[in-house]
Parts: sequence; structure tokens; C-alpha cells
Amino acid sequence: MRPSISFLPLPLFLFFLISFHGATARGIDLIHKTCRKSAKKDPNLRFDFCVTSLEADPKSHCADLQELGVISMELALANATHTRSHAKKLLKHKKLDPYTKACLHDCFDLYSDAIPTLKQAIKDYNSKRYFDANIKMSSAMDDASTCEEGFKEKKGVVSPLTKRNNNMFQLSAIALSIINMVNSLS
Ligand SMILES: *[C@@H]1O[C@H](CO)[C@@H](O)[C@H](O)[C@H]1NC(C)=O
Repeated sequence: MRPSISFLPLPLFLFFLISFHGATARGIDLIHKTCRKSAKKDPNLRFDFCVTSLEADPKSHCADLQELGVISMELALANATHTRSHAKKLLKHKKLDPYTKACLHDCFDLYSDAIPTLKQAIKDYNSKRYFDANIKMSSAMDDASTCEEGFKEKKGVVSPLTKRNNNMFQLSAIALSIINMVNSLS
């Protein structure tokens, strides 16, 4: 006779499976709810972008609102870090016209400032200093817009960073919205 112990893991397994699935479904629900609310309040914030960005991080699937805030800020930080190195790489191209080069240089400096600012914003947020986190997150968001604006000041110049600046802008908007929601709940 086989020991009945071999039957025990099945209900246990099912229990974990169901509760894990439940947590995941709740996480996805919260992402949708949060993104819907955020997009409603901020017309610049795109619902689809918000959902796709947050869901891309597996941690988000069982995160609460507070944790979604950290995830969104970390996404912005990863993006800023990536954009800064991309700008640096582009600057090495010798064929760039001087105006574009100057703009890229500004962008490199702007993102170089944004990175420590975002790190500090995450620290502020984790210490529940939501006001400070908001100020710093807004400043990082401005850096992305300032970078993009630079290229627009001269006709015929095309920004090589438009997509990345837009991503950064959107991610910052998401983070700001969540910071404000968490703040209003605290
Ligand atoms: C930047 O953000 C976009 C949109 O969420 C994402 O697709 C991309 O992978 C991010 N890049 C980095 C380096 O995190």
C-alpha cells in the first residue's frame, strides 16, 4: 500500500496554484485600474503604454499600489540610464552636424542629471517623502522634454531620441500619478 502522504501534496499544490493565480489576477487588475485612473487624470498618459510597461515587470503581477510605484520609478531609471548611454554612443559618430551634436550633448548632460535625481526620488518614495519624490520625478520628466525640445529649435533637425524621450516622459507620468495616489491614501 502506498502511503497516503503522496496524496497530500496535490491539495497543497492546488492551494498554491490557486492562490498564486489569484495574486496574479489581482495584480493585473490593479495595473489596469491604476492605469485607467492615471490616464483619465493625465491626458498625456497613454493607458496602453502604462499597462504594457508595468506588466513587463513580473514583479508587478502580485504588487500592491505602493510596489507599482517603485516598479514605475525603476522603469524610468532603467530607461534614463539606457538613453544616456545611447546618447553617448551617438555622440561618437563623426558625421553628425554640429547642431545635432550640441543637442545630443545637452541630452547627455540632462540624462546624467536625471539618473541621480531618480535614484533619490526612489529613496524619498520608499521613506514616504512623497512630496520630495514628486518634485524629483517631475524634474526628471522635464529633463526628457528639454532634451527633445532642443532638437526642435532648428528646422530640418530630427531628434534621434524622440522615441526614448517619449518613453521616459510616459514612464515619469505614470510614476508621478502613482506617487500622488499613494500620497493621497497615506
Ligand atoms: C524603457 O521603457 C520602455 C517602455 O516601457 C520599455 O519597452 C523598454 O524596455 C525600457 N528600456 C529599458 C532599458 O528599461
